Amino acid sequence: MPNLFSDSIIDEIRDKCNIAEVISQYIPLKQAGRNFKALCPFHEEKTPSFVVSPGKGIFHCFGCNIGGNVFNFIMKHERLEFPEVVRMLAQKANVRLPSRPAFGREQKDTPDLFRINDVACSWYQANLNKEKSRPALEYLKKRLFTAKAVLDFKLGFAPADNGLLNFMRLKGFQEGLLEKAGLILRREGGSYYDRFKQRLIFPIFDSRARVIGFGGRVLDNSLPKYMNSPETPVYKKGNHLYGLNFAKEEIKRQDFCIIVEGYIDLLTVYQSGIRNVAASLGTALTPQQIRLLRRYTRNVVMVFDADRAGELASLRSLDLLIEEEMGVKVVGLPGDEDPDSFLRKFGKKSFWEKVTQGLDLFDYKLNLLTRNYDLDTVEGKVGVASHMLPTIRRVQNAIRRSGYVKRLAQEFSKGEKSLGEEWILAELKKVKKDFEHYAKEGLAQANVVVNRPAEEMLLRILLEDETAVEEIERHLAPEDFQDLRIREAMRVAYRLHARGMSLSAAKLITYLEGEDAAHLISRLSSGACKFIDRSKSLNDCVGRIKEDNLKNRLNKLQREIKLAQSWGHTENLTKLVGKYNQLVKSRSRQG
Ligand code: UTP
Ligand code: MN
Repeated sequence: MPNLFSDSIIDEIRDKCNIAEVISQYIPLKQAGRNFKALCPFHEEKTPSFVVSPGKGIFHCFGCNIGGNVFNFIMKHERLEFPEVVRMLAQKANVRLPSRPAFGREQKDTPDLFRINDVACSWYQANLNKEKSRPALEYLKKRLFTAKAVLDFKLGFAPADNGLLNFMRLKGFQEGLLEKAGLILRREGGSYYDRFKQRLIFPIFDSRARVIGFGGRVLDNSLPKYMNSPETPVYKKGNHLYGLNFAKEEIKRQDFCIIVEGYIDLLTVYQSGIRNVAASLGTALTPQQIRLLRRYTRNVVMVFDADRAGELASLRSLDLLIEEEMGVKVVGLPGDEDPDSFLRKFGKKSFWEKVTQGLDLFDYKLNLLTRNYDLDTVEGKVGVASHMLPTIRRVQNAIRRSGYVKRLAQEFSKGEKSLGEEWILAELKKVKKDFEHYAKEGLAQANVVVNRPAEEMLLRILLEDETAVEEIERHLAPEDFQDLRIREAMRVAYRLHARGMSLSAAKLITYLEGEDAAHLISRLSSGACKFIDRSKSLNDCVGRIKEDNLKNRLNKLQREIKLAQSWGHTENLTKLVGKYNQLVKSRSRQG
């Protein structure tokens, strides 16, 4: 979890909040010995497998395997971000959060800016009923928007004069703030004028339905077609998704989100009754938008119009989704239709069919490439590989990744000169790894032996008795753990210990990046576990992990040796074989 707050404040809040007390405000808890039980709020169940341990400060569901500390519970239950939960619990626990000078200035104005946007939004809306807005109403009619959609989305109209500026002045708002809100602009001479003139107004909402900015469309064919609010303290381009505030419940229910490009597309799709939809507003999805989406689903269906769908550039931006472990499907619309025009022409049923028949990004991209490259030639294969490998490289799940490598190899074996998997794997390695994520499923890479029981046992021992950390660290570096959740937990444990901080399950969880590691820790420390001889167990586990790592290194060397042989890299080969023999020798000495 990224920290805006100091560690000690977070620790204080967590320690002051009794997790059972907090959770019991959301769901009924039943006492069971020192712990509490409940029906899990995160999955359907008839008998309780959700356990809260106030002593350890954690919860865990043995049914759906979700767990964590008090922060995780509220993040998950209320769908809030970590800083929001910290603020909420700080209040509950009577802990004063220090004000952050870096944000101080901006924050001072934000309540005003929200208020200004709200008032402006109402004013634009009210305009729609005035005589001079007739062209706007005509336009809305022409685009077939229902009165309900116009009201729900708070559509409005900006007239050709400086109507908003005059109105807001009368209301007593300062010009400086209006300018900061992006609603008016300043001429060189110092006088102000309205940013949006003679345009249909689309208010942009954040996920909590507050108005943060506006988009304005011309009523004819003049350019620019749309004008948008500039970045302001409350509106950052790429931090929001248009329509998400309306769609979030349906996205959760359907467990996927349809992404379209434009304001109008979104309105038309939503109005048709398909409500799990949000709009990126004409840009590639940003990491912030993906993070927003992930609160509700991990599946995305991108609906592109035909020319965008045929562009490799727009597909490339989807690699980011893969990297964030989202399932990505792509729908290309025919001809020059966009979602709005397609729906108008072919109806809701056809649109829904398109959406549900979207192709996996991998397949979509491969189809597109094979139509543009000749796979019978080496050049063609190189071309296809250069586009596919960066995508494959970002797949975190090792099993899925190796599946894609196989598929690509199959594709390459259709032509005359077939190309085996080992070539693809070798090329894959060269693709620059410009991110430091890890497989959440816990596998670092294909073909690696993971001694999960031994690794879990060590983590269990550590959670039972934090003094074991020194002994474990003496023998094993974080990288020696192959389960990446455990690797991260150990790295955090070593770090906290080095800073003289105490370790507990609830605390470790606060410092983890990945949710999956948190679930693992809450499971391990919720389960009953008695060690007859802790230090013997510890030594056994260390020994087994070391042995398996040695095996892994030998296997890896073997694979490299094979590759060097097939490429005829004699020099490299000698080096590798030397290394291999050395390892084998050291192993027999140890054994
Ligand atoms: P489009 O040009 O595809 O427009 O831009 P559209 O949404 O289909 O609108 P209609 O149907 O012609 O009325 C897609 C999105 O790109 C952004 C807007 O968010 C738009 O909805 N865009 C486009 C701009 O911000 N400025 C522009 O000048 C054009
Ligand atoms: Mn359109």
